[in-house]
Amino acid sequence: MFQKLIYLSIGIFVGFYIGDIILTNNSNQVEFTENNRSPKIFCWILTGNQNHETKAKHVKNTWLKRCDGYVFMSSQSDPELPSIDLGVREGRNFLWAKTRAAFKWIYEQKLIDEFDWFLKADDDTYVVVENLRNFLSNYSANDPIHFGCKLRLEKERSWNSGGAGYVLSRETVKRFVNSALPNPDICNPGPFGDEDLELGNCLDNLKIRNLDTRDSQNLHRFHPFNVSFHVDKSTEIDWNFWIWNISFFPIDKNPSDSAISFHYTTPEMMYWFEYFLYKFNIF
Ligand SMILES: *[C@@H]1O[C@H](CO)[C@@H](O)[C@H](O)[C@H]1NC(C)=O
Ligand SMILES: *[C@@H]1O[C@H](CO)[C@@H](O)[C@H](O)[C@H]1NC(C)=O
Ligand SMILES: *[C@@H]1O[C@H](CO)[C@@H](O)[C@H](O)[C@H]1NC(C)=O
Repeated sequence: MFQKLIYLSIGIFVGFYIGDIILTNNSNQVEFTENNRSPKIFCWILTGNQNHETKAKHVKNTWLKRCDGYVFMSSQSDPELPSIDLGVREGRNFLWAKTRAAFKWIYEQKLIDEFDWFLKADDDTYVVVENLRNFLSNYSANDPIHFGCKLRLEKERSWNSGGAGYVLSRETVKRFVNSALPNPDICNPGPFGDEDLELGNCLDNLKIRNLDTRDSQNLHRFHPFNVSFHVDKSTEIDWNFWIWNISFFPIDKNPSDSAISFHYTTPEMMYWFEYFLYKFNIF
């Protein structure tokens, strides 16, 4: 009897202890939504303190809530968003340091135990989370793979556009943090550099596969420019524009009808998307 009580109190103590870790490490600082869908997608938004009111708020009001969990990576903590102060200086030059710190934080918070896929997007990216989930459901998050708008590095090497949003599997986040970050031969250890290009370079050095995200008609799902750019038929295509040259696959002006993302989306356009995608009907 007495022994049972001791076991019980040890059990309660351990229970509290585990509960406390989960509470302090996760639920306090990231937003968990109750979508209960599979696979589970965690979304993190690369932003800065100057954009909390003007951009981040509108990402939260529109598509972000369809992710299974989310957080804004910033230099200022704001429990309302919620945003994290990563302790990295603001400015375009420091985005690579921010991305590294973001994935490290995600790993340290044990979020890879709770989610399958990790989407990074900018505060001016619009994502159709349902189409992303549907696309990802064909793959295993335990494989070392990543996805996005595939751009050419050199020969067969590639990276994914940061503005179009990119997705890392749970296994990829694990390898990036454990094997790539500590090794300057694999990953640029300095703060400077384009975050998407640097990340792509590290993942390529680790032989993490960057898979094709186009649909069965070879139309793109992840888009590095705004929706007008990708659908507009009223202006001539400028074939000298840089994107046509560095895209890994040929680009067609028609986006896929199972498109996942568009970059350079203003808050105004985000609400416009919400209306046409989630409210509008044709009678
Ligand atoms: C998933 O795979 C099946 C079988 O290969 C294919 O028919 C389907 O289009 C794929 N779905 C997506 C969203 O890629
Ligand atoms: C979309 O991008 C094009 C340039 O690619 C720009 O000219 C246009 O103003 C943008 N549209 C909106 C609504 O932001
Ligand atoms: C892109 O490629 C075309 C044709 O190969 C070339 O004429 C053009 O200068 C290139 N543009 C850029 C921005 O590199």
